[in-house]
Amino acid sequence: MKSRGKSVTGGLWNLGLPSIFLLCLFFFLLGFFASSLFSQQDAPNVRPRVLASVDLEKDFDPLPTGETGDNSLTSIPFQVLSWYPRALYFPNFASIEQCQSIIKIAKADLEPSSLALRKGETEETTNGIRTSSGTFISASEDKTGVLDLIEEKIAKATMIPKTHGEAFNILRYEIGQRYQSHYDAFDPAQYGPQKSQRVASFLLYLSDVEEGGETVFPFESGQNMDSKYDFSKCIGLKVKPHRGDGLLFYSLFLNGTIDPTSIHGSCPVIRGEKWVATKWIRNIEQDE
Ligand SMILES: *[C@@H]1O[C@H](CO)[C@@H](O)[C@H](O)[C@H]1NC(C)=O
Repeated sequence: MKSRGKSVTGGLWNLGLPSIFLLCLFFFLLGFFASSLFSQQDAPNVRPRVLASVDLEKDFDPLPTGETGDNSLTSIPFQVLSWYPRALYFPNFASIEQCQSIIKIAKADLEPSSLALRKGETEETTNGIRTSSGTFISASEDKTGVLDLIEEKIAKATMIPKTHGEAFNILRYEIGQRYQSHYDAFDPAQYGPQKSQRVASFLLYLSDVEEGGETVFPFESGQNMDSKYDFSKCIGLKVKPHRGDGLLFYSLFLNGTIDPTSIHGSCPVIRGEKWVATKWIRNIEQDE
């Protein structure tokens, strides 16, 4: 009995290591599943994007140009980012050399970016909303011809003639600089009657940003719209700047009213520097 009792106790201790190990494993797995369950609840908006119907390697057979119709052929790959707002992403829209060239000409005359003021707003009350530096350059002013090529390509990607575009606004955001969420379109209720309206915006990222500087759509698909949105959190659909890539989104619905989900901002740059060329596209032709 004594020896049996001893052997039981000894057996418990002998069996101890593997069973403790199994027990640990059990609780580890339990914790793992539980935490993954909770983390899924924490971040309901992170979904994998499924790559469908894309075969980038495969060439397509272009239609032969006829007697009429456009005689150019441009392949512009894009990814649909969102329907609310209607946003498209264009990888490798411009070359590294083109981006460098645009930065070079813009650097010469950068000035603090300004804001269109709403009724009752002054430069003092809007201080800090937009802290970047920038400059407006029209394609015709760029003697290198790069902005002209980019403008042509944007016109093709949007199917909106380049005569509808404002001059390029080239912007630089340094560490800590940002642009709080705003609409590119002007709501007449806030800005007064408008002669024309911004329909779409095309952003060409001219630099990579080590950290921060994302373009953010906080209301994408209707999220964050009910509570008071805290800009400092920079949550929503975020687009990380990548040199040469383009982002297009539409500010207006097809009936001409402003799409509330087109509100967007530029998250503060945390490391590095952000350069971006913006093209605002209007519903009527612009005088040069
Ligand atoms: C315009 O279109 C949007 C989206 O389809 C819709 O929600 C809105 O009610 C429309 N507004 C008017 C004035 O027709």
